This record gives sequence, structure tokens and C-alpha cells, in this order.
Amino acid sequence: MTYRILILGGTTEARQLAGKLAPRRDLDVTLSLAGRTQDPVAQPVPVRTGGFGGAEGLAAYLRDHEIRLLVDATHPYAARISANAALASRQSGVPALRLHRPAWQPLPGDRWQMVDGAEEAVVALGGASRRVFLALGRQEIGPFEAAPAHFYLIRSVDPVEPPLAVPDAAYILGRGPFGEAEETGLLQHWRIDAIVCKNSGGTATYAKLAAARKLDIDVLMFRRPEAPAMPSAGSVGEALAMIDHRAGSAKRGE
Ligand SMILES: NC(=O)c1ccc[n+]([C@@H]2O[C@H](COP(=O)([O-])OP(=O)(O)OC[C@H]3O[C@@H](n4cnc5c(N)ncnc54)[C@H](OP(=O)(O)O)[C@@H]3O)[C@@H](O)[C@H]2O)c1
Repeated sequence: MTYRILILGGTTEARQLAGKLAPRRDLDVTLSLAGRTQDPVAQPVPVRTGGFGGAEGLAAYLRDHEIRLLVDATHPYAARISANAALASRQSGVPALRLHRPAWQPLPGDRWQMVDGAEEAVVALGGASRRVFLALGRQEIGPFEAAPAHFYLIRSVDPVEPPLAVPDAAYILGRGPFGEAEETGLLQHWRIDAIVCKNSGGTATYAKLAAARKLDIDVLMFRRPEAPAMPSAGSVGEALAMIDHRAGSAKRGE
């Protein structure tokens, strides 16, 4: 009997993990996406899309589809689905593990200030007009309308519709990974003096922080939400080892 795994995805790591598991004949892997991105990148395993209907819905899915292992490989800031994963695992008795990238740590020369979300970032920007790069999701930039004195550069995967109700904003489309030379050029071109971002971890979106360090630019960084207790892997390799261990134990009937 194949060992069924559901990966909650929407991240590069989830796609990479699925890619490593896809050729395995002892496993049957499905990847779940929230369905936020208009044109998601191709995935190496079958995909299901859309919410489950809370923790209860996810627990029912796990039972109905005879899932043996749930892997929460969502973004570290996707707090609701991670909480649901922990609850659904408890409700259904299906074991779960998390794959989350370790947070970035500041290096000498970094000008980071940690904030608890967009409202606090707006306050931290202060009253004087600044040139701000919002490296955030489309759904998270609304609060900056309360601070219309600043110029905003907004980069998103899909267009921001409707645009932010501020007098001075520019929009660019882009999907990582981004390189350091590219990010340095962007920050210089738009004369950015503050970046607002999340501590996503990983390499795909780190370059803006290396560029900010070099250019002496302030970074307002959202604190990570707390993740519920669950066995956790910090890399795809670590997650693979944990999955092998569990699938192996299941095969031996342990
Ligand atoms: N937040 C970020 O900064 C960020 C960055 C990059 C990628 N992402 C990815 O984008 C997706 C949405 O993030 P979010 O912050 O909006 O999530 P969220 O606030 O934690 O979740 C909101 C709701 O969306 C549904 N959902 C989220 N992830 C799902 C998944 N992988 N499969 C099926 N349903 C999912 C769930 O609906 P139901 O309750 O109905 O099940 C969940 O309750 C996640 O897959 C995440 O990995 C997020």
C-alpha cells in the first residue's frame, strides 16, 4: 500500500520537496495550494487548490483521502493554515511535520528594526516623507494608505488591483529569486531609503537585505508569527529524512 502524503505548499521549499518525492513509487504525494496566485508555477506532483474550510475541513480531507502524513511547508507567515494543520493533525490522528525556513539573522552593518506588522511599520516610518520599498504581499499593503506622505515602490507577483490610495507609488511585477546586483540597482534607481519586509528566510528574497546593508538602508521587518508545536525540519533534506523515517516505520508496521 502506498504511503499518502499531503503537502501544504505555496513555497519554493514545498515544490522542491514534492520534486524529490515525486519519483518515489512507495509514496503518493499531493500538493495543496491556497489558490492566491493567478498563474502558479508548475508543480511536480498532483495539485489540489483552495481552502479546506478551517481545521475541521482539513481533518476531514485527511481522513477521507487516507492521508498518512501531513507536511506543513507553507510560508512562515501563513499563520492560519499552520494553526489549522496542527489542529487537524490532532483531530484526525494523522501525524504532521513542518518544513519552515530558518529566520534570517542580522549581520554587522544591517539597520533592521523589528515591527509587529504593517500598522507598526507605518508608525516607525515617521512623519517626514520617505522613499519606501514595500516587499510585501498584495494583501498586506493596505495600512500604508494611512501614511500618504511617502513614496512607495511595490513589487508583487500579480498586479495590485485597485492600486494603493496614495499620491506617489510605483508598481513592478516580479517573482523571485532576485540577485544582489539586481536589487542594488532597483534600490538605487528608485532612491529607496527604507524597506518593509518579512523575515521569510531562504535565499530567494535575501538579496534585497544584502543590498540594503551595502547601501545603508533602513529595514522594517515584520516579526515572525509563532508556529504551533510540531516536529520541524529547517530544510528540504531534513524533511526528506523525517519522511523516510516515518514511511519506513509505517512499512515495518511500527
Ligand atoms: N503569508 C505570506 O507571506 C506568504 C508568502 C508566500 C507564499 N505564501 C503562501 O500563500 C498561501 C496563502 O498564505 P496566507 O498567508 O494567506 O495563508 P493563511 O492566512 O495562513 O491562510 C488563510 C486560509 O487560506 C487557506 N490556505 C492557506 N494555505 C493553503 C494551502 N497551502 N492549501 C489550501 N488552503 C490554504 C486556508 O483556508 P481554509 O481555512 O478554508 O482551509 C487558510 O485558513 C499559503 O499557501 C502560503 O504558503 C504566503
